[in-house]
Amino acid sequence: MTPNMVFFQVFRFDPEKDKEPYFQKFEVPCIRKDLTILEGLYYIQQQFDDSLAFRSSCREAVCGSCAVHINGKYRLSCKTLVSKLNSDIITIRPLSHMAILKDLFVDMSPFWEKYEYMKPYLIPGKPFPEKGEQIQSPEERSKIDILVDCILCACCHSSCPVTASHEKYLGPMSFLNLDRFVSDTRDNAREERLALVNNEHGVWRCHTVFNCQEVCPKDLNPSGSIAHLKREIIKNTISKKG
Ligand code: SF4
Ligand code: SF4
Ligand code: FES
Repeated sequence: MTPNMVFFQVFRFDPEKDKEPYFQKFEVPCIRKDLTILEGLYYIQQQFDDSLAFRSSCREAVCGSCAVHINGKYRLSCKTLVSKLNSDIITIRPLSHMAILKDLFVDMSPFWEKYEYMKPYLIPGKPFPEKGEQIQSPEERSKIDILVDCILCACCHSSCPVTASHEKYLGPMSFLNLDRFVSDTRDNAREERLALVNNEHGVWRCHTVFNCQEVCPKDLNPSGSIAHLKREIIKNTISKKG
């Protein structure tokens, strides 16, 4: 039986060669029901053009490296099935708000700088116990259960309208990852952390559009984290005044 064919319209741009970006169309056989967009991109690379640039690593929605814009939404290409898109034409663009290095491959340095600014590591403020671990009760651990699932894919970053218009806006990924440490009972740098986002580039600039929540491939809720951080900042201010 001949497999169904789908067209991949892929964003192409090589700053060293091209004056303008353009879309290139490739015909990809949908050989299995569970064929993913990432497999389609590999097919194109192997069959038509081995210079096509894109990122991937784990191929199982864990590393966060394969995120691109597919038919109107930022998604992980390794997790998105061609068959679920219900379309014969699949348009693939790179992530937004970051410089294009080549095709679907963007410079993620500004994203990582924002992540680093959040000090994404425990600051215990006291020496770790000499023997054994720093124990948390199941209840304490549950406060960070979902927050630790962020795979740093940048789908939220790319879909946020404020990140688009304000380059220094720290953005949903940063807020969720800051919340992950503010909510961790082993961390002792709450005030220092809240100060990082209580400024003109921080949580107050969020327009509460919820794009970040809608787009997250791990079903996380960065806008919930933003609301939580705002509450914590207000509580902090009140307790200092009182
Ligand atoms: S919050 Fe979700 S969308 Fe944003 S970087 Fe983390 S996993 Fe990706
Ligand atoms: S809720 Fe805030 S952080 Fe999330 S996409 Fe909207 S403006 Fe950006
Ligand atoms: S390749 Fe790792 S999340 Fe897609």
